[in-house]
Amino acid sequence: AAMTEQVSYSGPQRIFSGIQPTGNLHLGNYLGALKKFADLQDAGWEGIYCVVDLHAITMPQPKGALADQTRQIAAAMMAAGLDPDTSTIFVQSSVRAHTELTWIFNCVARMGWLEKMTQFKDKSGKDAERASVGLFDYPVLQAADILVYKATHVPVGEDQKQHLELSRNVAARFNQQYDVPGFFPLPEGLIEGPGARIMSLKDGTKKMSKSDPAETSRINLIDDTDTIAKKIKKAKTDTLGDMPETVEEMAPRPEVANLVGIYAALAGMSDEQVLAEYGGKGFGTFKPALAELAVEKLSPITQKMRQLLDDPAEIDAAMAKGAEKANAVAEPIIEEVRRVVGFWQV
Ligand code: AMP
Ligand code: TRP
Repeated sequence: AAMTEQVSYSGPQRIFSGIQPTGNLHLGNYLGALKKFADLQDAGWEGIYCVVDLHAITMPQPKGALADQTRQIAAAMMAAGLDPDTSTIFVQSSVRAHTELTWIFNCVARMGWLEKMTQFKDKSGKDAERASVGLFDYPVLQAADILVYKATHVPVGEDQKQHLELSRNVAARFNQQYDVPGFFPLPEGLIEGPGARIMSLKDGTKKMSKSDPAETSRINLIDDTDTIAKKIKKAKTDTLGDMPETVEEMAPRPEVANLVGIYAALAGMSDEQVLAEYGGKGFGTFKPALAELAVEKLSPITQKMRQLLDDPAEIDAAMAKGAEKANAVAEPIIEEVRRVVGFWQV
């Protein structure tokens, strides 16, 4: 369990989240992250959204690809509805305070905490000796991302739970070690909701992922209308008959539950409401309806993304402005941290 504290943080509530510029964005990224960002912005939250290129280099990237991939994610954030004037959207490597705070946190986080991280185990595979030190340190950089803005809330998909717990532990330990109760907030995840864990279209027990070699396992944000419709029509179901009538009936049917969850998340409905409409009907009815809904919700985003990428000047100007705004929040905080740690003052 995460550490708790006697004195709690009393600063302003603020959101931070990040997305790596690696591979194509998919429906899981949209429902688990991008859509939530836009909804939170529209609900009035102050938000800082980051393309985390420093995280991307913990794994080898194709030569020369980083800047283009970064621009793609920035375009997706804007296309999904984040407004660079209302929110802060920027590129991680353009704000130096992230790396500086990472070093300080490296001396706060414990080896044992990082050794428990399942992402490192998954990504380093059998040959952990050859993984980069950066891949091991990935969660500490993530803690620095969040805390260099004293962010209190972090909208992410369910796969980020363990990383968030590490961020809370780093914050609590810093506050305790330097005797500054309530200095850093213990950031909370905003994870709940129907989009938190979108599964592969080919296997209802595996999450939809950028790295799945099967293209048909995911819907990419950049897929055209026909491709989206085809992938949904081919999505795996089961041989247990028509659509379930209740959530209980759906429980042992992971592939079906995933499709219903996707429908619910896209439509802003609950699973129950979707089943009230489609329970007892055949997949020949439900799948085309889902395909139509997915196209209706995703194609304006895809179009906007393409339009932004065709003339990247707008994206680049937004990132420049975002870096300035992010720096303006981070600089006074990293200054405070330097004082708390007790470094030499020049
Ligand atoms: P990444 O692409 O790993 O940088 O992830 C970006 C965001 O998308 C993070 O908040 C993830 O938790 C979220 N995410 C990734 N895959 C999924 C998925 N299958 N379902 C829901 N959210 C996801
Ligand atoms: N680790 C996150 C992912 O893979 C990306 C990320 C980096 C992040 N820094 C963050 C998410 C800070 C939230 C807050 O999806």
